[in-house]
Amino acid sequence: MKISKNLGAIRHRIAIVSGKGGVGKSTVTAGIAYNLARSGLKVGILDADVSGPNIPHLLNVEAEKMQVSQEGLLPVIAAYGIKIASAESLVESSDTPIVWRGPMRSSLINQFLADMLWGELDYLLVDLPPGTGDEPLSIMQTIPLTGLVIVSTPSSLSILDVSKIINMAKTMNVRVIGMVENMAYYECPGCHEKVYPFGKGNVKALSDKYQLRLIGQMPLDPLNTGKDIITSDDSPAVRMTAEITRTIEDLL
Ligand SMILES: Nc1ncnc2c1ncn2[C@@H]1O[C@H](COP(=O)(O)OP(=O)(O)O)[C@@H](O)[C@H]1O
Ligand SMILES: [Mg+2]
Ligand SMILES: [Zn+2]
Repeated sequence: MKISKNLGAIRHRIAIVSGKGGVGKSTVTAGIAYNLARSGLKVGILDADVSGPNIPHLLNVEAEKMQVSQEGLLPVIAAYGIKIASAESLVESSDTPIVWRGPMRSSLINQFLADMLWGELDYLLVDLPPGTGDEPLSIMQTIPLTGLVIVSTPSSLSILDVSKIINMAKTMNVRVIGMVENMAYYECPGCHEKVYPFGKGNVKALSDKYQLRLIGQMPLDPLNTGKDIITSDDSPAVRMTAEITRTIEDLL
């Protein structure tokens, strides 16, 4: 009851999910949030990947910690007013591992939902841990989600695990807004030839099989150079998710 009251002033609640880790889920989440907030919308991110919280790092507010007020928990504020709740903003340093067990992770997420002072938001994006474990299940049960955005690479292992997510969403009656194919191809900066290191057409085939919409294909970005942090409107993650963000807005 407390959670539904606390989330009452949030217009859209979208979870970003994937079958596997390392496919770009957090990058996509941060990029979409940035694009939405830049266009003047009020945006929050719940970093529900408690064991691998990356959102504060990606949005360049790693050093800041969440504060507690009389009314509840205060989110960390990133560019364009993006409100972030993350386990990374609790711990002393980001190389301190979070060794909490499953039930503790779920109760931390519930606290972020019940006690975080989100206020009025147009969008709350939830960055879920990969797979169909405790946290994705409990989020789908606890929050009335507007829908899911599924991120996958074209590799067959990623695809396999995504099928499980799609079936889970079906069972839970949660809408899948669409699929994002990440690392879809690599364009040689020299001759502009496109190569497909993880396979070609696999994500499209999967989305066709389940009658889902493929809402974006992001290339492997040679300019990433291992710097994952979004520091400006021109950062790769922002550029690569600009059109995906518009598509999501149109679909809702
Ligand atoms: N399209 C891309 N091009 C280049 N690097 C990418 C791309 N997408 C993600 N990455 C990089 O891959 C790594 C994993 O991405 P991340 O968003 O943390 O994945 P996940 O949240 O699914 O585990 C990060 O270092 C990220 O910067
Ligand atoms: Mg992640
Ligand atoms: Zn070339």
